[in-house]
Amino acid sequence: MTNILCIGAGYVGGSTMPVVASHCPEHRIVVVDINEARIAAWQSDQLPIYEPGLNEIVRQTRGKNLFFSTDINRHIAEADIIFVSVNTPTKTFGQGAGRAADLQYWEKTARQILENSTSSKIVVEKSTLPVRTAEAMERILNSNNKGLHFDILSNPEFLAEGTAVSDMQNPNRVLIGGRETESGQKAVERLVEIYAQWVPRDRIITTNLWSSELSKLVANAFLAQRISSINAISALCEKTEADINEVADAIGHDERIGRYFLRASVGFGGSCFKKDILNLVYLCENYGLPEVARYWEQVVAMNEYQEARFAANMVTSMFNTIAGKRIALFGAAFKASTDDTRESPALEVCRALLEEQADIVITDPHAMENACDDLKELAERVTFEIDPYVASKNAHAIAILTEWPQYTQLDYERIYHSMVKPAFLFDGRNLLDHKKLYEIGFNVHPIGKPPLTHLVTYGFKQA
Ligand code: NAD
Ligand code: UGA
Repeated sequence: MTNILCIGAGYVGGSTMPVVASHCPEHRIVVVDINEARIAAWQSDQLPIYEPGLNEIVRQTRGKNLFFSTDINRHIAEADIIFVSVNTPTKTFGQGAGRAADLQYWEKTARQILENSTSSKIVVEKSTLPVRTAEAMERILNSNNKGLHFDILSNPEFLAEGTAVSDMQNPNRVLIGGRETESGQKAVERLVEIYAQWVPRDRIITTNLWSSELSKLVANAFLAQRISSINAISALCEKTEADINEVADAIGHDERIGRYFLRASVGFGGSCFKKDILNLVYLCENYGLPEVARYWEQVVAMNEYQEARFAANMVTSMFNTIAGKRIALFGAAFKASTDDTRESPALEVCRALLEEQADIVITDPHAMENACDDLKELAERVTFEIDPYVASKNAHAIAILTEWPQYTQLDYERIYHSMVKPAFLFDGRNLLDHKKLYEIGFNVHPIGKPPLTHLVTYGFKQA
């Protein structure tokens, strides 16, 4: 039996470890966190995050070979392998503020591991970290005078929220980076053995430490770059009467381009894309590569442009004023099937509309609590309404901001009749049937397609 510890019971620690536990019944897995409320929730029937399939797998494994605890020190002492999946947000202060990764939680964890260890261990970087972080960790951990040896591995996580359990069950690859020493390679092999319990060997890639650390940042940068690329073209489509869905389909048929991640949208969100690209930008600057830094920075700039463009388009389309107008935002989560609102474009749009003094009502099936927390003091100026029919009643406009499938099932005829006329619908996810909505009477503004508007005769038709 191997004692596996995971430090950090957030989205990553909390959704990966139950899958490890279910495939490795012979190992004992403990997930710890400094956040007592979070651990209490993991021990209850009301898990702290919403993730499809997670309840079932936690129920199957918890109390058998999966445990949640706040007793970090004791479990460090008992562990053979420690995964560290604490948060690594963007630094908000000092050198590198707004770009570099804030490694304070990670370093505190390393020191805590050192203090409480009485045996040698493998420490696995699961958090996303700047390339060469493992070097600093090795220095801290192996500076002990207890005669202990720590092997550091990089095993970045590629799961996406909303599909975390299935991504972990059936990953397209598992990446493990280690030192090219005998001890480093033994540690790599030990981790490979664990994944090999359910992942085919040819999907387990082993590399050197730095390639593994860097590949995680690069994977996110490439994914985000595709979204910014298609969103840039969506702006051009709106000017030229080309249709972004048709363009995406046409280019995506080329296997060299591929069809994934070409859905134009109000922008990408989530806790990682922006943070990881900014981290990459900071690293490039630090290594004296300003041109490379500027190149990647543009991916984030384009995303901010897309969010701002969407909100600005709402204002201009609604006769240049939305002050005092009720606007229903359908969706607060950064994507469907999650309650996560970190860096959600929905909340960016919300903030922009509040600046214009709109009367905002937000509806979302799972993310209202997080949205309320994220908006902080602005939340007092927002109404939260779980029922989309109530949210849109007496509204001048609806903005679809998260691609929840349930929004495709609503009775838009009923919604239209309950709204102030002319009624507008801004589809930030190109989720709905725009022609049908137009026929019902809505003035429809999709992404990357010309608007379908009834306002032509009044001279408000868009270019
Ligand atoms: P999170 O904020 O949801 O969870 C991190 C947890 O770590 C929190 O519960 C926090 O209380 C805990 N923590 C912080 N310091 C601690 C300490 N010293 N001891 C014990 N616990 C501590 O973050 P997350 O979304 O799970 O992300 C974690 C890491 O994984 C980040 O580096 C992120 O970039 C990366 N990542 C995230 C995703 C994702 O989809 N969320 C996917 C891949 C990689
Ligand atoms: C992303 C990556 O997909 C994961 O591989 C990675 O592990 C993770 O970041 C991470 O490091 O945190 P996630 O952010 O959970 O996962 O979700 P995605 O499905 O990648 O979506 C990110 C954002 O892009 C969402 O706002 C989504 O709506 C948007 N998106 C995605 C688009 O606008 N268009 C697309 O075609 C795809």
